[in-house]
Formats: sequence, structure tokens, C-alpha cells
Amino acid sequence: MTDTKALVTGACGEIGQALVQALARRGGYHITTSDLAPLPDSIKKISAEHVRGDLVYKIKTFYDYDFDVIFHLAASLSSKAEVASEEAHRINVEGTMQLLMLAAYRSEKYGKSVKFIFPSSIAAYGMRNLDTKQSAGRVKENEYNTPQTMYGCNKLYCEKLGIYYGKFFGQKHLDENPPHFLDFRSIRFPGLISAFTLPSGGTSDYGPEMLHAAAQGKPYACFVREDSKISFMAMPDAIRSLLMLMDAPRANLNHQVYNIAAFALTAGEFRDRALKAFPGATISFEPNPRRQGIVDSWPEDVDDSLARAEWGWQPEYDADRFCDDYFLPEIRKRYNA
Ligand code: SER
Repeated sequence: MTDTKALVTGACGEIGQALVQALARRGGYHITTSDLAPLPDSIKKISAEHVRGDLVYKIKTFYDYDFDVIFHLAASLSSKAEVASEEAHRINVEGTMQLLMLAAYRSEKYGKSVKFIFPSSIAAYGMRNLDTKQSAGRVKENEYNTPQTMYGCNKLYCEKLGIYYGKFFGQKHLDENPPHFLDFRSIRFPGLISAFTLPSGGTSDYGPEMLHAAAQGKPYACFVREDSKISFMAMPDAIRSLLMLMDAPRANLNHQVYNIAAFALTAGEFRDRALKAFPGATISFEPNPRRQGIVDSWPEDVDDSLARAEWGWQPEYDADRFCDDYFLPEIRKRYNA
């Protein structure tokens, strides 16, 4: 059997490195990577070819390639996107548009439905105010689609673009997904936490930053209030969800965009867990109004019943397992803590 040809954009990022490693562990994938950055050692030997540069300008390169599945992870995260909004729009929207066009072109030309896996985010939601956030509970995919950040607007719009290219491109309106339409599938991720890498430019970063700082004995000033609550997930669960959604038979999927959830915690609960594991940790709260506003606009938790029903999603790590079985053992090894 020939290898499945996969493209992973944003391969040097947190999700990218973990995903490329997971595909290699599975075996049977020929992996092309792309990113602005050179490949880190963690995935250098796995990538068959690395295309370095801005996707918007590099896209022509990929018209010569045959891909069965594209994981389009490249993005400018929410805090960074708020201060460099035009750049974020280029990376997050124009880059996605170019890649969707390429996948649609290849699907049509070769009569083979290219799978396009797109990580969206809880940033696609926008809660009007704190009262709404606190009373909304676990929000469903079609609720509160009123993002208040550049990144959230970009993600929500790209979900719509993906659905367009997957179902309506050229206004052919065929009832069933014919083989020449690209197969768009998207997950709205909560804040992700890896024991091996740290995010940069995101707003949910206070969770991982606090834990990594505590493990290293470094003081940490959290940039949101103690009562700020959003949902989080261990990186291994996030990677498993991407592979599960890729594997799901198309006939089982009645939607294109799915929430997934694992555990929702306040920043204060993160502090308590960090202090329990590393009693000497120094953690303070110094809210940054801009980043606080972003977190206040994101829901406290999401309803992932569609993903559970249609492709069997279930997290393996709740908050306790995340700490005890994944994060703490790994981080202790890493920092000798
Ligand atoms: N974790 C991302 C961020 O904070 C949200 O998807 O930007």
C-alpha cells in the first residue's frame, strides 16, 4: 500500500510538532511540512520535505504536489493577531483561502476528495459580557458566533470558507459529497497545554505558562484575573481528536465544525494545582486589560455532544489525569523538578 500523502502547515508550532510525531508513530504517512521557521530537531528526521516561508507566497510550490490530507495548522494566535491585525489576516485568512483553493482544485482535477483538517478555536465565540459568559453554560457550535477578536473573526470566517469549498464551490449544489469536492473538517479547540512546548502569541497561554514557570521555580504574573474561566485540554487529547476526525467515515459526519472539550478551570484553580505540585511557586495576578477582555469574551465551557455522537469523541484527560498522568510526570523529567 502506498503511503498517505499528508501536508502539515504550521508544523513547527505546538500542535504541529506533536501531530507530525503522532503521524510518524502511526506509520504509513509521507509527510510534507511547511512553516515560517526551520524544522526543530523534534521532527527534523520525520518530515520528507520542509517548505519554509509564508504560505501566501509559497502556495505555488504545492500545486505540483499530490496530497490526500492537509492539516492546516499555520496561524497567528489571538493576542498577537490583536496587535498585528493585517499580518494576522494575511496568515489566517489569505493563507487558508489559498490552501482551500489548492485542495479544491486537486479534488476536482483528480476526482479525489482531499481531506482538509482545520483547527478552529473557542475564539470563534464572543460573549457579550461577563454575565452572559457566566450564565451561558456550555455553548453549542451555532451559539454566540460573534467573535470579538481578529483571530476569532478569522477562524469563524475560515470555517465558512471551508464549508463553501467543501459543499458549494462553483454552486454545483450536489446533494452528496461527490469525490471532487474537498472534504472539510474542523475542530474548535479549547486552550491547549503541552508538557513539551510553550505556545506564543495566544491568550489561553497563561495556563501553560503558569505551570511551566512553577515547575522551573520561576515567579509568574498571570495576565488575567483569578476568576477567569475557559476550557483547556491536554495536547495528547488534541492530537488524538485530529486523528479521530481524519479517520471518521464521511457518511458518519453531518457537520463540518465540532466543539471538543476536556476540562474547564479558572486561573485561580490553575494556581492552586501549580502550588500543590510545586509548593514553592510564586504566582501573582496582574491582569492585562486587553488580554483580559479577550478571555472574558470566550465561553466558560463548550458542548461537545456533536463530536461525541458523530465520531466518538471522548477526552482521556480530565483535570486530575492531565496533572497526575501527563503534565507533572513529563514536566518533572524535563526540568528536573
Ligand atoms: N489558544 C488560542 C489562543 O489563545 C485560542 O485558540 O490564541
